[in-house]
Amino acid sequence: MKRVVVSNRVPTPGDPPTGGLSVALLDALAGGSGLWFGWNGGAPEPRAEPATQHHDGIDFATLPLDEDDYDGYYRGFSNGVLWPLFHGRLEAMTHDWEARRTYDDVNRYFADHLAPRLCRTDVVWVQDYHLIPLGQELRARGFEGRLGFFLHTPFPPYEVLRALPEWAVLFDCFRAYDLVGFQTEHDMRHFADTAERRPGATLSSRADHLDWGGRSVEFGAFPVGIDIDETARIAAKNTDTDDARALLDFADGRPLIVGADRLDYTKGLVQRVKAFEKLLTDEEHHGPDPVCVQVAAPSRTGVDEYRQLAERLQQEAGRINARHNRPDFNPIRLIGRSLPRSTVLGFFSIADVGLVTPVRDGMNLVAKEYIAAQPVDDPGVLVLSTLAGAAEELADVAVLVNPYDLDGVADGLRTALAMPLPERRRRHALGLRTLRCTTAEDWWNRFLERLRAPRPSSRPWSSS
Ligand code: G6P
Repeated sequence: MKRVVVSNRVPTPGDPPTGGLSVALLDALAGGSGLWFGWNGGAPEPRAEPATQHHDGIDFATLPLDEDDYDGYYRGFSNGVLWPLFHGRLEAMTHDWEARRTYDDVNRYFADHLAPRLCRTDVVWVQDYHLIPLGQELRARGFEGRLGFFLHTPFPPYEVLRALPEWAVLFDCFRAYDLVGFQTEHDMRHFADTAERRPGATLSSRADHLDWGGRSVEFGAFPVGIDIDETARIAAKNTDTDDARALLDFADGRPLIVGADRLDYTKGLVQRVKAFEKLLTDEEHHGPDPVCVQVAAPSRTGVDEYRQLAERLQQEAGRINARHNRPDFNPIRLIGRSLPRSTVLGFFSIADVGLVTPVRDGMNLVAKEYIAAQPVDDPGVLVLSTLAGAAEELADVAVLVNPYDLDGVADGLRTALAMPLPERRRRHALGLRTLRCTTAEDWWNRFLERLRAPRPSSRPWSSS
């Protein structure tokens, strides 16, 4: 029996993981025979056999994508259609049937190369929206073992999902899985609501299981977490580096607000800097003017929407700096490149406020990492969007704000900056206790245990 993770991106064996999630999945695969399968993440090149590497007890098998694959499957359908659709940004959706056909074709290409490596006893765990049809492609190639799927993004309500012309065909792909996991109860309910509209699907009385044309499909909420101790350790080790000192020099004794995100329209970055400007002009804010450092790591630069966003954010930050700077004060520093995770955690540790205001987010691990990175004796405060999945768990820990309400975000920042030490300590201690209930390890353990648990028998796969 081996564990198999399939995801669009596969971390480079031996390189420091870029995010908490790859750390979690590497842990899930280590300590037994594990395989991580997916795209090699490189520049387009002709399709080929998978390249394999063995590192720390894990096999890595990666495939190249050619130009058409990259354009249609990754840039076009995954990130130009499913990503905006699942985040409720319908006007950013650029549907075209050619891209959709390529999406299906790349899922078949993945299945062609993965199926021969699988045994009946293997447990296969497919990650995220790029690979929704992979399950049925593996079933069509004879794989009868346990097959799970986890969606890292939100799952949209039916009224949003049906904006996708072929929503029903895509949705029916979930029938091939034994277990489908979501970040939150909300996402799970949206899934159940759509499932009930599909012919032949019956929802169990506990609303966590579908009898779907003779197949049994379970689903549930499995909030992704982080490794708190490891995050805290890395953060504490990086508070006195050249980068951290440069950040403190920039703040020059003023309150320091830090955000760190992929440069993505779901992260609410333009609204965020505008809300920060409101704080600068807020007459009720007493004390020194705060400074804001926003790390905006370039992402999906091949998609138009992302290039335009980079420009808008630079313009906005530039405008605010030009309007509010003084000889001894520049309010915003925008870092438009990707920084090592250790550097970002060091920044979080010394920041007075962590500002995490996505307009929609499946979970948002940055919010959790900010809490874990705080020094226990003098912790900073998290200002968190109500529209991030993490807000379900952190409602009593963070100062919650609606990212569209710029005055509300400015108020939230003011509350966070003025929060007395005992209250900061109380919230931080509660935050740590909360995060310990859903760590990264719990996440994959809970999912894989449920996937392996005995279940009602399913009819052998057939596509109808
Ligand atoms: C989100 C998705 C991941 C994706 C990541 C980076 O977190 O849920 O599946 O890997 O963004 O995006 P990219 O397009 O660079 O892989």
